Amino acid sequence: MKNIVILISGGGSNMAAIVKTAQREGWHKKLGARVAGVISNKAQAHGLVFAQEQGLATEVLDHTTFASREAFDAALSTAIDRYDEPGQPALVVLAGFMRILTPGFVNRYAGRLLNIHPSLLPAFAGLHTHQQALDAGCKFAGATVHQVTAELDHGPILAQAVVPVLPGDSADILAARVLTQEHLIYPRAIAEWLRQ
Ligand code: GAR
Repeated sequence: MKNIVILISGGGSNMAAIVKTAQREGWHKKLGARVAGVISNKAQAHGLVFAQEQGLATEVLDHTTFASREAFDAALSTAIDRYDEPGQPALVVLAGFMRILTPGFVNRYAGRLLNIHPSLLPAFAGLHTHQQALDAGCKFAGATVHQVTAELDHGPILAQAVVPVLPGDSADILAARVLTQEHLIYPRAIAEWLRQ
């Protein structure tokens, strides 16, 4: 069985979409994989409530209690590696995980570390992606699932979804429209990754 570990920082709606899709599509039987645990860097992350209701293992690693980025990432690695099975390293899924990871961490999980970013990469890496798209006068926006590499919000693209930017959109309205598509493409991209 391949374990999937999902890292969150907040609402966890992408995590919930992945968990629900895995249940609905029977990933356990069909893909030999299951969402095994959720790790948050914030104790208040609302997504933890859903994860606990689903009976998933949850853990909080508060990054503010670590002396350095490297120390936090080392603790995160220890937490993640508990989900490895013999010959089956865990798949690590970043879902609204708002921490920059060190190159050492990224290299350790190379090829099995996925992220979703709320823009059509390579446009608008970083933060405030929806405001960036509005400010640039984009007619379309979207989201990207990609492999994580040491360069922030780069790495091979696995899936994208496009939504229109509509007259009168605020960043929040656009974010909500993009998020509905994230909930579709992230579980689909993970299932494809598991099938490969
Ligand atoms: C999502 O829109 C995700 O793409 C974004 O944060 C939101 C998390 O929502 N991620 C990033 O901005 C990463 N740089 P969720 O917690 O409800 O899944």
